[in-house]
Amino acid sequence: MTESEIPLIDIQDLSKTFRHRGEKLTVLKDLSFRIFRGDRIAIMGPSGAGKSTLLQLLGTLDAPTKGTMLFDGEDIFRRSSSGLAKFRNDQIGFVFQFHHLLPEFTALENVMMPGLIGRMNQKKAEDRAQQLLDDVGLAGRVHHQPGELSGGEQQRVAVARALFKKPRLLLADEPTGNLDLRTGAGIHAILRELNEKTGVTVVVVTHDPRLAETMPIRVLVDEGRLIPQRPGDERMEGRLPEALLDARPREPGQMRLVEAVTDAENVGHKLTGGAEETGVNG
Ligand SMILES: Nc1ncnc2c1ncn2[C@@H]1O[C@H](COP(=O)(O)OP(=O)(O)OP(=O)(O)O)[C@@H](O)[C@H]1O
Ligand SMILES: [Mg+2]
Repeated sequence: MTESEIPLIDIQDLSKTFRHRGEKLTVLKDLSFRIFRGDRIAIMGPSGAGKSTLLQLLGTLDAPTKGTMLFDGEDIFRRSSSGLAKFRNDQIGFVFQFHHLLPEFTALENVMMPGLIGRMNQKKAEDRAQQLLDDVGLAGRVHHQPGELSGGEQQRVAVARALFKKPRLLLADEPTGNLDLRTGAGIHAILRELNEKTGVTVVVVTHDPRLAETMPIRVLVDEGRLIPQRPGDERMEGRLPEALLDARPREPGQMRLVEAVTDAENVGHKLTGGAEETGVNG
């Protein structure tokens, strides 16, 4: 394999079991998945399926019970906790459903915060933050505090902040969860632009099939495994284990979701048409 063929992330037989009041709860079971550089991935699945748990593992915020995760070929969970902290700090950007911006600071200050914490030169940090706010379409809002921004604008600030340290991997857990569809589509459009412009690998958890449609790679968490959102989707080859390429959801609850996704394909052009100025398309 040449370097560009080595997956950015290679997850092998990953399991995660929680212990809760003496009982074991296995949320992820023997999950295998490969993520390549520059991928833009939507993770879907019903509430409680384990999407956030998977994202936490990808971000090394939590450790698996079993299995390995190679990042750039390195068995990442072999690192010490300080080694993992450094890895996270250097390589990973996080965006959550609620933006977690600091309310008493401006958009610019929020975005440059990781630089200030890392004792970066103030002027350099400011320039970079300004550029990122420009990239997410907020050049005109840099001195607004979060309370003076709309929900979608706040979330764009959170995206800019997550990218401040030039992470290789951007992880977003329902970043559009509290936004209307149109504003959510705007966030997805920005993720796409940033992905195409900088090559940052993007993994987004979303409940909304119409937003998932804006991501080229789509997977479902089903009974602790990852399966293709659409059985037989050839883009999953080399990413999911061969035996799962045609897998369909085992949980009856998920059939509804798959149907919803199919419905969304029909309205896909509607979303694209309606969100044209935000640059969303399939
Ligand atoms: N620390 C924990 N201890 C015990 N159980 C946990 C813990 N964290 C998560 N769980 C359980 O694991 C399951 C998966 O949780 P997770 O948050 O990953 O779901 P999710 O797919 O993100 O759901 P949602 O769409 O509602 O956000 C849930 O049943 C949850 O109760
Ligand atoms: Mg979740």
